[in-house]
Amino acid sequence: MMGAPVALLQVRGLTAQFNRGDAASQVVKGISFDIGAGESVGFVGESGCGKSVTARALMRLAPEGSSLAWGGTVLFKGQDLLQVKERVMQDIRGLRIAMVFQDPMSSLNPVLTVGAQIEDIVRRHTGASVSQARRRSVELLDLVGIRDAARRADDYPHQFSGGMRQRVLIAIAVSCQPDLLIADEPTTALDVTVQAQILRLLMRLRRELGMALMLITHDFGVIAGMVDRVHVMLDGSIVETGTVDALFANPQQAYTQALLAAVPRLDAAGRLV
Ligand SMILES: Nc1ncnc2c1ncn2[C@@H]1O[C@H](COP(=O)(O)OP(=O)(O)O)[C@@H](O)[C@H]1O
Ligand SMILES: [Mg+2]
Repeated sequence: MMGAPVALLQVRGLTAQFNRGDAASQVVKGISFDIGAGESVGFVGESGCGKSVTARALMRLAPEGSSLAWGGTVLFKGQDLLQVKERVMQDIRGLRIAMVFQDPMSSLNPVLTVGAQIEDIVRRHTGASVSQARRRSVELLDLVGIRDAARRADDYPHQFSGGMRQRVLIAIAVSCQPDLLIADEPTTALDVTVQAQILRLLMRLRRELGMALMLITHDFGVIAGMVDRVHVMLDGSIVETGTVDALFANPQQAYTQALLAAVPRLDAAGRLV
């Protein structure tokens, strides 16, 4: 069929505020952006500018122990996620939109084997049998580059390195072949060589599974070479948008220039060298 492609995700005027007693603080101040099917879009900005709250507001997930109110529209495949029933949202989370966070240890259960945790998610979402889920969990560990996956599935999270634990979380996130993966600082807790491996893994999975990727980071170096387009966030707003190359070549805002200046060294195409 011909016609203009409709974005997978169309966000318009998204706001989010924390309510504390009679005080309210708006931390996302009306932002708008699109993510097309299979596209990778970066969000970069200094710590505290509202990147994580933006991602959480899209998914209607308030941080533990807080009251978060949101506004605007979040059209996902034409359905406004801010309006659907919580039950519908529960199906969309994990199944159609999955998230990977910064700290893999706190997202894994220390007393269950890695394989059991993947099997649990697979069974919950697909109704697979125990043995099917077991097979699938080994397949997924293999897909994210865990060597000797059948044996390592019986290990506990503390027996894995930080990078391997992040691979496990990515395996869980992609287990149901989501349309969109939101990765919030997925490599910030990892050392530099492992960061590069995890980023390559995300790029490969996006290509192989045809997912869209929303990649959130405070570090422009992470975005370079990874995304089709970047939104620069400052104080709850998007202040600049462009391709990575265009922003590197000609940043319009002093703030964007400062973020770029923090990146160690880049080649002519804006990639880390
Ligand atoms: N649970 C919370 N309760 C109250 N304020 C919060 C909470 N989480 C984050 N904030 C505030 O919201 C703003 C945006 O935070 P966040 O989205 O986490 O920033 P970042 O861009 O680093 O991901 C910050 O000012 C932060 O202090
Ligand atoms: Mg954050």
